[in-house]
Amino acid sequence: TPTLVIATAGTTDTGSIDPLPAIAQLCRTHGARLHTDASYGGPLLFSDTLRPALNGLDQSHTIAVDLHKLGWQPIAAGLLAVPDTTTLTALAHHTDYLNAPDDTRAGLPDLLGRSLRTTRRPDILKIAVTLRALGRRGLGDLVERVCAAAQHLADLIDAHPHFELHARPTLTTVLFRPTGTDDPTTAALRRTLLHNGHA
Ligand SMILES: Cc1ncc(COP(=O)(O)O)c(C=O)c1O
Repeated sequence: TPTLVIATAGTTDTGSIDPLPAIAQLCRTHGARLHTDASYGGPLLFSDTLRPALNGLDQSHTIAVDLHKLGWQPIAAGLLAVPDTTTLTALAHHTDYLNAPDDTRAGLPDLLGRSLRTTRRPDILKIAVTLRALGRRGLGDLVERVCAAAQHLADLIDAHPHFELHARPTLTTVLFRPTGTDDPTTAALRRTLLHNGHA
C-alpha cells in the first residue's frame, strides 16, 4: 500500500504538469497522502487565467513552491504549504543546548520553531517584500508575460525551417533542436552556447 504519493506540477525538464485530480482521486481510494512538488509551476496560481492548469492542487496534503524559479526571487525562496499548523509541531522540538529554558522564559527569541532550517537566512523576507510591492496581480502579470513569451518562441521555432520543437510549452521551458541533429550534436551545441555566454 503506498503511503505517500508525490505529484509534480511543472517538471524540471519539460515543465509538464501531472494530472492532479486523477492522482488525488487515486490517493483517496488507496488512503495515501499526496504531496505535490509545485516548485516550478506553483506560481501559476498568481494568474487568474493560468491557474486552472493547477486544478486539483488543493487536494494535496502538502505543497512545495520555489519562488526562486517562477517567482523572481534570488535563491533560496522555497515554501512548504501544510494543511494546518499542527503539521508543523515537529518544528517546535526543543533541545537544551539551543533553547535554554530560562532564556525562553525570559522572552529571548530563537529560530527553532520558526524555520525548517535553524541558522539560515530568513528567506521569507524578500518574498514578503515582493508580495507587498507587486501584489498577487503584479506577480500574475509577470507569470503571464513569460508564459506568453514561451508560446511566442515556440511559434517562431515551429515556423522556422531549421528548428524542431519538442512539444508545445506548458510553462516557460521551450525545448527544441536544430532539425535532424542527433542527441550528442545537440548537447555539444548546448554546451558551446553555454560556454560562449550567448544563450
Ligand atoms: C520540479 C522541481 N522540484 C524541485 C527542485 C529543487 O529545487 P531547489 O533545490 O532549488 O529547491 C527543482 C529544481 O530544479 C525542480 O525543478
